[in-house]
Amino acid sequence: MFDLKSLKDSISQKAIAAKISAPSPMDEHEEKLLINKIKRQLEENNAVLVSHYYVDEKLQYLAEETGGLVADSLEMANFGRRHQATTLVVCGVRFMGETAKILSPNKRILMPTLEAECSLDLACPAEIFQEFISQHPDRISVVYANTSAEVKGLADWTVTSSNAVPIIKHLHNQGEKILWAPDRHLGNWVQAMTGADMINWEGHCVVHDEFRTSALQELLEEHPDAVVIAHPESPEELLAKAKVIGSTKVLVNVINTMNANKFIVATDEGIFYKMQQMQPNKQFIVAPTGGKSATCTACGHCPWMALNSLKNLSSVLESGHSEIQLDNPMIEKARVSINRMMDFSAKQGLLVQGDA
Ligand code: 13P
Ligand code: SF4
Repeated sequence: MFDLKSLKDSISQKAIAAKISAPSPMDEHEEKLLINKIKRQLEENNAVLVSHYYVDEKLQYLAEETGGLVADSLEMANFGRRHQATTLVVCGVRFMGETAKILSPNKRILMPTLEAECSLDLACPAEIFQEFISQHPDRISVVYANTSAEVKGLADWTVTSSNAVPIIKHLHNQGEKILWAPDRHLGNWVQAMTGADMINWEGHCVVHDEFRTSALQELLEEHPDAVVIAHPESPEELLAKAKVIGSTKVLVNVINTMNANKFIVATDEGIFYKMQQMQPNKQFIVAPTGGKSATCTACGHCPWMALNSLKNLSSVLESGHSEIQLDNPMIEKARVSINRMMDFSAKQGLLVQGDA
């Protein structure tokens, strides 16, 4: 019998264990030498670096400096399949590496560490998800990209936070009823935006679920001129206070287009690197979580994204370990739901880099 409480407890324990094992900072000189070494290693391996907005700022810097990309999960997937390099190095969490492998099965996909999980992926074991599907044969299953390759192989559609609303709207307009997994806050937001008939799984992100609306209200009183922007994995009552809700890419873009100088940002604080780089004269404040260090699991920063470091990046380029391995039947199965998303996104003009 499936025990949701013990699954939630084990996810929190894994998140805390990841937080404790986060790599320690390096001195500036050592860091400089390592960055130069990684630049050489990338060339020697015919490799390109793709980093998510949440990883260490040096990994974001290196990706851009060496002709790679810093992006949200949809653009990371699209860039990887279009690039000529024979090796993609994905700095992010495991589902991002798996998606890259599914879309580019002939490329070698390396990650600085394969220990970088995601609480949403962990909250949705494939065998339980299969039962969920079997209980609702009249519904189309739609899963968030933050799931395993196995779960994507069971689903009809994969979506990211960049395209969840237009895809569910499209399915709803076709008269489909939806089975949604695993992020309940994102599911509830998409449901509210589209009016679709959805049954939602009970997963949550350990980072976004910790943002607290009452503390946000107090912060807003201190900063009445600040605009709240939020990722849709945040709790609904917090989203109600946000002027803009969207994927990491939407949040990064909106600080350029919005006529405001101060933003309270409800997402992982790794995104501040890109925001400050783009708008050095604007002020960014991290949205408050329920507590500080000992009393919060993530405290505004994904414990698994934090496992990516210059040291393990260099080491993986040296040894070739931490390669994503998926067997061909799994790749074929998972590609169906991902390709539906990629094709739909390309047709709707949702891909910055264009279609493959
Ligand atoms: P994006 O697709 O918006 O980059 O989000 C991925 C993620 O894991 C957010 O927590
Ligand atoms: Fe998963 Fe949350 Fe980390 Fe994103 S921030 S990778 S949803 S645990």
